[in-house]
Amino acid sequence: MVKTISVENLSKIFVSKKQKVTAVDNISFTVNQGEIFSFLGPNGAGKTTTQRMLTTLLPVDGGTAHIVGYNVLTDVKKVRANIGYVSQLGGADPNATVCENLQLTGKLYGLSGRDISQKIKKMSKLLDFNELLSRFVRTLSGGQKRRVEIAQGILHEPKILFLDELTTGLDLQNRVNLWQHIRKLRDNGMTIFLTTHYLEEADALSDRLIILDHGKIIAQGTPTDLKKKVSYEAISIELKNLQDVKKMKQFFNQLAIDNVIEADMKFTLYTSKGEELVANIFEYMKEHHIELANISLSMASLNDVFLTLTGKELRDSGKGDE
Ligand SMILES: Nc1ncnc2c1ncn2[C@@H]1O[C@H](COP(=O)(O)OP(=O)(O)O)[C@@H](O)[C@H]1O
Ligand SMILES: [Mg+2]
Repeated sequence: MVKTISVENLSKIFVSKKQKVTAVDNISFTVNQGEIFSFLGPNGAGKTTTQRMLTTLLPVDGGTAHIVGYNVLTDVKKVRANIGYVSQLGGADPNATVCENLQLTGKLYGLSGRDISQKIKKMSKLLDFNELLSRFVRTLSGGQKRRVEIAQGILHEPKILFLDELTTGLDLQNRVNLWQHIRKLRDNGMTIFLTTHYLEEADALSDRLIILDHGKIIAQGTPTDLKKKVSYEAISIELKNLQDVKKMKQFFNQLAIDNVIEADMKFTLYTSKGEELVANIFEYMKEHHIELANISLSMASLNDVFLTLTGKELRDSGKGDE
């Protein structure tokens, strides 16, 4: 099977008078057809630089990259015909209407007038901005503008859509709304490659993701894989009866638990074997007639993953980027 995106040993080095910056440092990965694939990383990690190389906007310094089998260096036209790109800055002209913006995009793609009208109709329905077509872009909210810019990116109905920090600076409600639209595009068969520095976004939206830091891949997998691999799960237990506390504490001593926090009849157990332990705990309680008020198993967040791998918090490392 041809991978939709395949990247081998890709590098980019920026050289200025003062210094040499390895923005992308020998990275390799593949993206499958029809998945939402994310780059999660702090400001300066190399997310935009990678996307700009894959979208033929920046020359590659080392390694190779193929988009649906076409080389980004030698098959530029074929690559461009198969991709859409919404940059960090967005591309909609604030002083033109939504409709005018899309007409211009259609012309740039070389579509016929009739084709353009049809596609504008289709996109405004798909991305839910029918009532905004005659509005000037400068009057739109951040979320509305981003939807129009997605439409510009996919007017020619490409196989792959690149989205660079699409939701940065938007409030949660608008971000969640955009996530729903991105999922809809994926469900219609499009492959989505997005970048973000929002942990919850990478977690909620990605089928698979790469965590990038200083131009290097530090982890990759599904959000669940990543969280399972490097961090803990937390089991919260609440008992009904005080007299059972002692018995439970004795039992916990026999389990593979890294840390227990207790308060009255509540316990939080940190472990890497959550599911297995929950089963053991249920069994023990049943056997000893211990009544349960509450039990839940939750997973460590991607922030814990980033923290474990880099020793710093992703939340704090991307300051000044919004
Ligand atoms: N045109 C450029 N000239 C010099 N350095 C650059 C240029 N573009 C990006 N960089 C540097 O490359 C690194 C990666 O940047 P970028 O890809 O924009 O990161 P991200 O999108 O993850 O925030 C940063 O250190 C940035 O300063
Ligand atoms: Mg960027």
